[in-house]
Amino acid sequence: MAAKSLYICQSCGSEQRKWQGQCPDCHEWNCISEQAVEITGFRNQKQTSIGNALSPEPITEINSKDTPRRVTHIEELDRVLGGGLVRGSAVLIGGDPGIGKSTLLLQASAKLAEHHGTVLYITGEESARQVHLRGERIDALHEDLQLTTSCDLEAMLSTIAKFKPHTVIIDSIQTTVTSQLSSAPGTVSQVRDCAAALIASAKQLGHALILVGHVTKDGSIAGPRVLEHMVDAVLYFEGDRGHNHRVLRAVKNRFGPAGEIGVFEMSDKGLTGIRDASRLFLAERAVDVPGSVVVACMEGTRPILVEIQALVAPTVYATPKRSTVGVDATRVAMLTAVLERRVGIPLGTQDIYVNVVGGVKLSEPASDLGVVLAILSAFQEKPLPSDLVVFGEVGLTGEIRAVGAPEARAKEAANLGFSQLLLPQGNFTRVQEANIAAILRPSKEGKDWQSMPAKHLSSAVQLAF
Ligand code: TYD
Ligand code: MG
Repeated sequence: MAAKSLYICQSCGSEQRKWQGQCPDCHEWNCISEQAVEITGFRNQKQTSIGNALSPEPITEINSKDTPRRVTHIEELDRVLGGGLVRGSAVLIGGDPGIGKSTLLLQASAKLAEHHGTVLYITGEESARQVHLRGERIDALHEDLQLTTSCDLEAMLSTIAKFKPHTVIIDSIQTTVTSQLSSAPGTVSQVRDCAAALIASAKQLGHALILVGHVTKDGSIAGPRVLEHMVDAVLYFEGDRGHNHRVLRAVKNRFGPAGEIGVFEMSDKGLTGIRDASRLFLAERAVDVPGSVVVACMEGTRPILVEIQALVAPTVYATPKRSTVGVDATRVAMLTAVLERRVGIPLGTQDIYVNVVGGVKLSEPASDLGVVLAILSAFQEKPLPSDLVVFGEVGLTGEIRAVGAPEARAKEAANLGFSQLLLPQGNFTRVQEANIAAILRPSKEGKDWQSMPAKHLSSAVQLAF
């Protein structure tokens, strides 16, 4: 058994022959570290003989009807998972320290134990007493929830084999170590090999596996990117300390739509799912003030209404300041240019600030029209109607382009009591056919539902104000 020194990039997991300041594969700096690796097992076995033939089946014959899923009975989590935990699947949950990963998983484990039987929760970060105290506080105790503290992979694997739980939670993968490798916990080789062994046992024994992963400073899951390829679903917990709400987002899901989100609120009773996320984000909206507009955006398959605010003020600098929170700054710069050239609004000497309320991040072009109208409303100091919702992509010629899922956006607007919708011409027919007026709750002013299609920014501006 050879002991060997390897230089491994802690960012991407690539192996180098000598130490370097920058990783030639992922171009990160100061991430290569020397590791004494004892190469054991399958790694140095070269396969020279031909194996047994596999037995492929026609794809039409494969039975996938009953992919068994276990619902966690935490509605927002089930939605993000695509309808529950699939047997034999591996899920990776990442997020900043203290965001609520352990809290959510403890709540989910207790529910899973209550409805489906034995769940095994292995923590390498907290003592069993600590977890018990937390469980007591958030009412997440159940006798079928088996709890143990360990960092030892081999012990974990034999515990899993012995107890045969239907769900295993490892909190966290970075604290798990295998005695097969001499490198320190949390290093790439440890994380990769431990995850591979745990995933293999899940596939073999059929339990669902949830791994908690730490994130690095730039927000990606620490350890090799291969971890993300190895698991079936990757969920990220987002949200900032300043707000109580947390968003759980599926960035990859082999068993459901990626991009799906679940919204939670952190309280002293743990995390509570929020079904009506739009209401949360619009809770403190000031009406009839300039610079504020409500946009209908999609997060996964779910429509959410959020408020975009803009502030426009004459600049005191040589180059005006453009500052954004929650929307892409380059996109805002582009939209400002479109507003100047196509609608003739002189913004060259104005500082522009754009903010998405509630710490939400918008990445969809469908929020373009909202950004443009917020800037214009702030510049002209003219408020937009308080019952108006907008969506639409704005092109460089000032054209308003159609976006996906217009019916869902319109329905969400109507459900929340908005009665005017400004939308791309290209989406108008689909929204008309969805007959939104029928679901509209009669508003206080007794207004009827009105959808206003626009083809170009100049007509959108006229319709909005
Ligand atoms: P935790 O789940 O331990 O975070 P992670 O596992 O992602 O590191 O969350 C801990 C934070 O949540 C901590 O700052 C306290 C807060 N919290 C509450 O506000 N209410 C609660 O009921 C619990 C259990 C935690
Ligand atoms: Mg934790």
